Amino acid sequence: MRITDTSDLWWKSAVIYCVDIKTFLDWNDDGVGDFEGLAHRMDYLHELGVTCLWLMPFYPSPNRDDGYDISDFYSVDPRLGDLGDAVEVIRTARDRGMRVIIDLVVNHTSVKHPWFVASRSSKTNKYRDFYVWRDSPPKHSEPVSFPGEETSVWQLDKKTNQYYLHSFYKEQPDLNVVNPKVRDEMVKIMGFWLELGISGFRVDAVPFILDTEGVLPEEGVLDHPLDFLRSLREFLGRRSGEGMLLGEVNLPHKDQLRYFGGDDADGLTMQFDFIAMENMYLSLARSDARPLARALKARPPLPVEAQWANFVRNHDELTLDKLSESERQEVFDAFGPEENMRAYNRGIVRRLPTMLGGDPRRIRMVYSLLFSLPGTPVLFYGEELGMGENLNIGGRMSVRTPMQWAPTRNGGFSNAPASRLVAPIPDDGYSPEHINASEQRHDPDSLLHFVRKLIERNRASVEIGWGDLEILEHPVPAVLAHAVSGAEGRMIALHNFGSNPATVDLELRDTVDGTILVDLLVEGTVAVGPRGAVQLLLDGYGCRWLRVLDPGDKRLG
Ligand code: GLC
Repeated sequence: MRITDTSDLWWKSAVIYCVDIKTFLDWNDDGVGDFEGLAHRMDYLHELGVTCLWLMPFYPSPNRDDGYDISDFYSVDPRLGDLGDAVEVIRTARDRGMRVIIDLVVNHTSVKHPWFVASRSSKTNKYRDFYVWRDSPPKHSEPVSFPGEETSVWQLDKKTNQYYLHSFYKEQPDLNVVNPKVRDEMVKIMGFWLELGISGFRVDAVPFILDTEGVLPEEGVLDHPLDFLRSLREFLGRRSGEGMLLGEVNLPHKDQLRYFGGDDADGLTMQFDFIAMENMYLSLARSDARPLARALKARPPLPVEAQWANFVRNHDELTLDKLSESERQEVFDAFGPEENMRAYNRGIVRRLPTMLGGDPRRIRMVYSLLFSLPGTPVLFYGEELGMGENLNIGGRMSVRTPMQWAPTRNGGFSNAPASRLVAPIPDDGYSPEHINASEQRHDPDSLLHFVRKLIERNRASVEIGWGDLEILEHPVPAVLAHAVSGAEGRMIALHNFGSNPATVDLELRDTVDGTILVDLLVEGTVAVGPRGAVQLLLDGYGCRWLRVLDPGDKRLG
């Protein structure tokens, strides 16, 4: 038997599911989700086909930025449980064949972190250089991340009369990554959690961590900021053979290549593809697959040890910052027409189903796309059910409502009084009465069952995680046709962004007499004609996955 690295680089064919523990399941009925609740839903996640859980920050935090402002990296928010409970969750996940990755937030801490408390106490404190202090804000400061909520990335601290840098809220002072002591602390944090059994990190806000330019030019301790990323990866490699770093790098593709570590691939192992995601929404708004096709074609090829992570929504606003102003406006008009549906002039704070007017055909088409695009799919909790948002909460928090388990009180999330819940549950057409896991589990026609099937087919199609992408040319603008080919074989997929049924004529390469296409989502087989000619029909907003099988192929159709 040939030994390949297919199972070593497990993350290349993983299905990642992002959980916010405090909104997932409240086992002790205090209104806040907890580790024990999550442990009780391992079978649900396993049944869905998830192979990797991404846990959003669960550390002690004053919660200015929903847990992304951490006051202790070595502990657990007491509302969620304790370290022992965290270990039980990691162990239970492993028992079901699921790995766990956690958020690594090392760009900043909370103002309440003991390092910052010490740092701000005096200019001579030994923690002073853990953060970035200046007598006055530099002339060319970075723009604020949260326009409307912050006006500058520099905050005057009266006690010592100096300004500190904060790329996000003023309650989140930026750590000084140029300081070797800070870097030692960061790897120590990684080492701690690796020892507890996690398999990698979702690295928060990576470009901000590395942005030392203009901040500390005079020190020049870091030869190159990316060296720092390399050192994290090296450390991870030494401590864990399976460790991966999934980076949040919202930059153009060509810049992302540097974060992968270029040809050496010694930087981040995976990065979210923001460009494809944003262009997918433009395609949806226009009922025209071409913006997405262009974005995918422009994806640079990656070394084998690197990977794209695909996603439809995450916990933040759906950022459209990489589209042109007029393109962004088109998406706003289509999916975020009201002021309260948007945030920071760049994004939409709704989940997919509400943006698509609840149309099940379109929603399914988008998830079919997610699981058929080369790369690793990442789901945000509740997407498999088609959960909506609660705009009454306001801003980015609107999509972080409790998971909807049952059509009962508080959606089966908690038995606490509704007023004590960590976030209010939607009470519109997307309330638990309409959208919940327990009913969908018993309904074979539900979105949940459809997503399960997509995951199953995705896992059986190794080429999606490992193969090369080809956008297939054809004359129907509404339809994206793509092929993914790897050592194991080839599949093609079609997605119709338009409401009209479509007939798509393709000419497939490298077919032989007798090549057939086997439908993977429904029953059916299509014979390929001479010179690879094949005609495929699609419903309005339809989707199809087809396995390319030559005579004698041993692969299952
Ligand atoms: C990332 C997170 C976001 C958070 C920010 C600061 O962008 O996704 O939720 O506010 O980093 O930590």
